[in-house]
Amino acid sequence: MSKYAAALIAGSLFINLGSAMASPEMVRKYNCTACHAEDKKKYGPTYQQVALKYSDEAGAAEKLAKKIQTGGAGVWGNTPMPAQPRVTDEDALAIARYILSVK
Ligand code: HEC
Repeated sequence: MSKYAAALIAGSLFINLGSAMASPEMVRKYNCTACHAEDKKKYGPTYQQVALKYSDEAGAAEKLAKKIQTGGAGVWGNTPMPAQPRVTDEDALAIARYILSVK
């Protein structure tokens, strides 16, 4: 394995560990839990459904981060997700990565 590949793997492990710890707290802090749970359908899709749908898609984390901040409807049905303007860019991306890791 090249040094470069090893560094990449080490880096992504670090990111996964970091967000695995930080983000369940963030979704509580931002009250996403009112409408979402990891594996139980509430008002919105479960994180598991979201992860299954997007985890193979390039740029999925960035796309979901944007959707988290701006809200929207039509992907999972007609029920809209309200915009979450309090979520910072950094937190939105961390939460999106966490959601994509729920399987
Ligand atoms: C009032 C209820 C509500 C709250 C609060 C809410 N959501 Fe949602 N969320 C929804 C609904 C409804 C959908 C489905 C929207 C659609 O079909 O396009 C959704 C969709 C999503 C999706 C999938 C987007 C897509 O395009 O597939 C993600 C990711 C998500 N929410 C994350 C979050 C996060 C993170 C928070 C907290 C910062 C949050 N939601 C807060 C209701 C909510």
